[in-house]
Amino acid sequence: MLDLLIHHATLPDGRTDMSVAVHNGRITEVTQGLQAPAAEVLDAGGLLLSPPFVDVHFHMDATLSYGMPRVNQSGTLLEGIALWGELKPSLTADAIIDRALTYCDWAVAQGLLAIRSHVDTSDPRMLAVEALLEVKKRVAPYIDLQLVAFPQDGVLRTKGGMDSLTRALDLGVDVVGGIPHFERTMADGATSVKLLCELAAERGKLVDMHCDESDDPHSRHIESLAFETQRLGLHGRVTGSHLTSMHSMDNYYVTKLMGLMVEAQVHVASNPCVNITLQGRHDTYPKRRGLTRVPELMAAGLTVAFGQDDMMDPWYSLGCADMLDVASMGLHVAQMTSQAAMRQCFEAVTTHPARILQLEGYGIAAGCHADFVLLQARDPVEALRLKATRLKVFKRGKLLSETAPRTASLALPGRPAQTSFMHGKAPRLG
Ligand code: FE2
Repeated sequence: MLDLLIHHATLPDGRTDMSVAVHNGRITEVTQGLQAPAAEVLDAGGLLLSPPFVDVHFHMDATLSYGMPRVNQSGTLLEGIALWGELKPSLTADAIIDRALTYCDWAVAQGLLAIRSHVDTSDPRMLAVEALLEVKKRVAPYIDLQLVAFPQDGVLRTKGGMDSLTRALDLGVDVVGGIPHFERTMADGATSVKLLCELAAERGKLVDMHCDESDDPHSRHIESLAFETQRLGLHGRVTGSHLTSMHSMDNYYVTKLMGLMVEAQVHVASNPCVNITLQGRHDTYPKRRGLTRVPELMAAGLTVAFGQDDMMDPWYSLGCADMLDVASMGLHVAQMTSQAAMRQCFEAVTTHPARILQLEGYGIAAGCHADFVLLQARDPVEALRLKATRLKVFKRGKLLSETAPRTASLALPGRPAQTSFMHGKAPRLG
């Protein structure tokens, strides 16, 4: 007897009218027209059943702190870092935990069930680290929270920075982070990349560094990151986050750099909502876009994912844990408007980040965890267009969250009565 049987689902790869069978928290079969006894049966009505959204890059220790102690006036990365520095002395573990748990509630409602969050290790008190480790434990039944030891103020620039970061790993933080472009010199930045990659290699950890989050075309720490990845045999275990300087780099140099990145199998985390607002602030007109070269990196065969990065904090005043909003911004800024490119944008918030986080059992296939989201959309492109409502969110085959379908009832003179008009065709719900 199955625990759950879903009928008439559309899958992100385009298969339609699929049945998905669930037993003991795992998907046991995905096929058309399956008939089997099940404790619960759900008719998906032709709507999209997707694996859960995954956020490759977030800062859960800062989330929901917008306006504390004041708002970022210049809108720049550097004022954001300064503001976070002003806030840090008044942070308490309880407040960080409360805000993070609230964010996680929102994330579940949005079908976001795996998050890689950076946690600031610059504070020797380890306040944020201990708070997010506690959050990781509490949300484990419903969110895979992977933590990155992130030296916000620079691992070499901060006194005792390397010791604090190492202590965070000792306490249970999963991934080694870094911020080479914020070290005092280019040389220090390169040294930080070398030391942090060596630390990760020694401890068998993944690496995810904030790297070249700048409009300076000469910020080339990604080159060092790709080099150290190869030197230490960390292929496929290292992510470069942001990489916005690549937007402004000389094209000839980029052709060489991309070759190095491909050899090292470095992954890329791009954060469209945040970087389109933070970058280009020193430009007049034309203003540069704040994104790395997403379609070109994908075409080169690299795994590229989109992250939320920030939500209602010193760096970004908006957001609502909606990875479709993030992907939609990436789609627009990177001009990824072909059907194939739009589908890649959907993958950049689902399968691509799942690969980067090395999530086990992710996907809609026999043997995978029964984690999925039923969206009020009929395919990934429609999901992006509508920022589709997450009708049902499942984890290990159990319903975690339900949202009523979005409908509008129109009564217009001379027009037939309509509902769900945003879907273009007659709705298949209800
Ligand atoms: Fe970040």
